[in-house]
Amino acid sequence: MEITNTTDFVKDAVARIAAASIEARGGPFRLSLCGGSTPKAIYEALAEEQLAWDGFVITFGDERCVPPDHADSNFRMAKEALLSRVPIPEANIVRIKGELEPDLAAKECEAVLRERAGGEDEFIHDLILLGMGEDGHTASLFPETKALQEKDQWIAANEVPQQNSTRITFTYPLINASRRVLFLISGEKKRAILDEIKAGGTQYPAEKIKPTEGSLNWLVG
Ligand code: 6PG
Repeated sequence: MEITNTTDFVKDAVARIAAASIEARGGPFRLSLCGGSTPKAIYEALAEEQLAWDGFVITFGDERCVPPDHADSNFRMAKEALLSRVPIPEANIVRIKGELEPDLAAKECEAVLRERAGGEDEFIHDLILLGMGEDGHTASLFPETKALQEKDQWIAANEVPQQNSTRITFTYPLINASRRVLFLISGEKKRAILDEIKAGGTQYPAEKIKPTEGSLNWLVG
């Protein structure tokens, strides 16, 4: 399928999946947002849509260890582009508190998801949006970092020497429990990385995103 406008495609896909999820299960529609620069235009386009926003629950695939109003905050980007412009109940926005000590922030957010999971042993998202870096990282699962090995926690503090910082990130168990994962990538180098991932056998963290029962799609802009 030739996609001429990725922003409109993702906007329409989120709208369609949200409506179907809310209709099928009476809500909530659990949507995880990714950070970085790629998704900003998509979030801005989504903000123009008349959706059942009160049925959305928003999570974040990762966060930098900064306050929510910091220029590097993924929450701040999503708030400016989308969350401040649509009527999602504040209680339904599950922010990773980057201003806290990283392990505490990870544990605090995971406790909120576990409570929302209602005793289930998984928190199943309806859709997780992910980006990918030119080193094949996704969320804040960077090559050769500890969080890649996490098999039990859903959210982990992850020291990232390549970024000279600690990040807080969803782990593979949480991401791979999702009903749908959609990568949003753009640029020649990332397209080449995607080709390598499709061929298999790479060490790129993004290659290990394999939803257990859900769908995995890549949107290449
Ligand atoms: C972050 C993101 C990260 C991002 C990729 C791609 O916190 O930066 O979660 O995984 O999605 O680095 O970023 P760009 O879209 O800016 O290329």
